[in-house]
Amino acid sequence: MSEKITVADIYDIKEAGRRFSCVTCYDYTLARIVAQTDIEMVMVGDSAGQVVLGHSSTLPVGMDFMVAITAAVRRATPNALLVADMPFLSYQVSIAQAVENAGRFFMEAMADVIKIEASREQIGVVKAVSDAGMSVMTHIGIRPQTIAKTGRLKAEGTTLEQALELVALADDMIEAGANLLLLEGTAREVAQVITKRSTVPVLSCGSGPDCDGQVLVLSDVLGLNENSGPKFAKKYASILNNIKQALDDYSQEVHKQAFPDDAHSYHMRASELDKFREMFEL
Ligand code: KIV
Repeated sequence: MSEKITVADIYDIKEAGRRFSCVTCYDYTLARIVAQTDIEMVMVGDSAGQVVLGHSSTLPVGMDFMVAITAAVRRATPNALLVADMPFLSYQVSIAQAVENAGRFFMEAMADVIKIEASREQIGVVKAVSDAGMSVMTHIGIRPQTIAKTGRLKAEGTTLEQALELVALADDMIEAGANLLLLEGTAREVAQVITKRSTVPVLSCGSGPDCDGQVLVLSDVLGLNENSGPKFAKKYASILNNIKQALDDYSQEVHKQAFPDDAHSYHMRASELDKFREMFEL
């Protein structure tokens, strides 16, 4: 991506009926590779809880960790639209704390947008963060931060009642100041209606092809996992096998003493080497 993408560019893409792509990313090294592609949006999701930290949910992820990894991804992707995820309990305790925590992503990590998993209870937070001048993506549909209460996550908008509630919720989030929406695990038909009605760009995470943009978790795209991931995830490579092969090759060469060889070693200055050899009878 050679020019800085702004929220206005994402609106232009929607307006023109084109699509934008987004991946999650959590570290500098992979983000540098993402920066060399035409992916417009990069999301530092709290899915880092599972992908980076190995937890079974997103709940143990904290603000300091999210700010640090968002800043690392920003350093590698100066031009992408960078979305930072507000972790569990960073915006539920009080509106003042939510605004302060959201602000950290802009001031310490140079994010462009913050994302909030939002139900009706968070409308006040969305409004306050937006009124404070920050760009807000509200994440509706499946909300992984509800796992402690619900026990499992399942597709949303599959009944008429749920569908109508989601359509109304999307409208209310926009009204409150959300300038981007994310629909996770929502029935395709509902995502289509929300996207069509929406004045703001809508990003789909497993909500079908009719939204304005798509997001996938980077490790799912690259095939870094043994399992196939959720139904909506698509593997575009099987990097896992390449990584395993490279590590096996490396380990075997170490065991056989084939690595490191002289080409991968430093040497003493030639002028002083003879003296050194003499001293230690090499
Ligand atoms: O946390 C995350 O990475 C997300 C995306 C998968 C949408 O919320």
